[in-house]
Amino acid sequence: MQNEYEIKKEMCEIGKRVYMRGMVAANDGNFSVKLNDHEFLCTPTGVSKGFMTPEYICKVDENGDVIQANKGFKPSSEIKMHMRVYKERPDVNAVVHAHPLYATTFAICGIPLTEPIMPEAVIALGCVPIAKYGRPSTMEIPDAVSEYLQYFDAVLLENHGALSYSDSLLNAYHKMESVEFYARLLYQSKMLGEPQKFSPQQVEDLYEIRRQFGMKGKHPANLCPNAKAGKPSCHSCGGSCKSTAAPAAADDADLVASITKKVMEQLGL
Ligand code: 13P
Repeated sequence: MQNEYEIKKEMCEIGKRVYMRGMVAANDGNFSVKLNDHEFLCTPTGVSKGFMTPEYICKVDENGDVIQANKGFKPSSEIKMHMRVYKERPDVNAVVHAHPLYATTFAICGIPLTEPIMPEAVIALGCVPIAKYGRPSTMEIPDAVSEYLQYFDAVLLENHGALSYSDSLLNAYHKMESVEFYARLLYQSKMLGEPQKFSPQQVEDLYEIRRQFGMKGKHPANLCPNAKAGKPSCHSCGGSCKSTAAPAAADDADLVASITKKVMEQLGL
């Protein structure tokens, strides 16, 4: 088990990787780690995440309010987006937001990553929907992302970037790498010609491999609302998951979570 200082060091290391791999420019991007239900570490706003040292890292509560920050540092301007993920996905322990070139290009063009072209992308991600555009730092982004949280472990943010989350910081970061690699492959294969897509049966075979691996997280193999409703899954429905993630088709636990969320929203809680 890592202590707090070790987690801060790991956040700096991930910052270097995100920056060196060109997944962010200048001061862009942010990430966070859950310590417990009431304490979270997050990157500070307005600094290059490639040059952080442990004292840059801020600590916030579940509302994103500061618990501890060294002089000159304030939590990320997108902290509400991170907190929404933790609130709605209790299995998540880390969140990564970046602007990787190819994934962001798809997000700008409004094209979700839904073409099954490579086994690892199908197994790790399934497909990656696009959450509708929201102004940075406002509640518009958490609200837009919320629709997809019960179904996917990565989403594109329209005209903005990408968001990934997982049970550890390294896994959340790897998910971001997978999104970007998938987007890049899709882009480049479309440049060369028409990518050869897996058939629905081949996709289902890969989903079965994922199930056998017992991989954690949310994935269309288990949760695609279309597949649950007996309709073609994301990879063959042209990204219709983008428009509706019908709670009626989700499994019981997700259905309860979804209804609870809506009731709480209506009660203003
Ligand atoms: P922060 O530096 O405030 O985390 O913002 C960077 C960013 O990428 C906003 O989308």
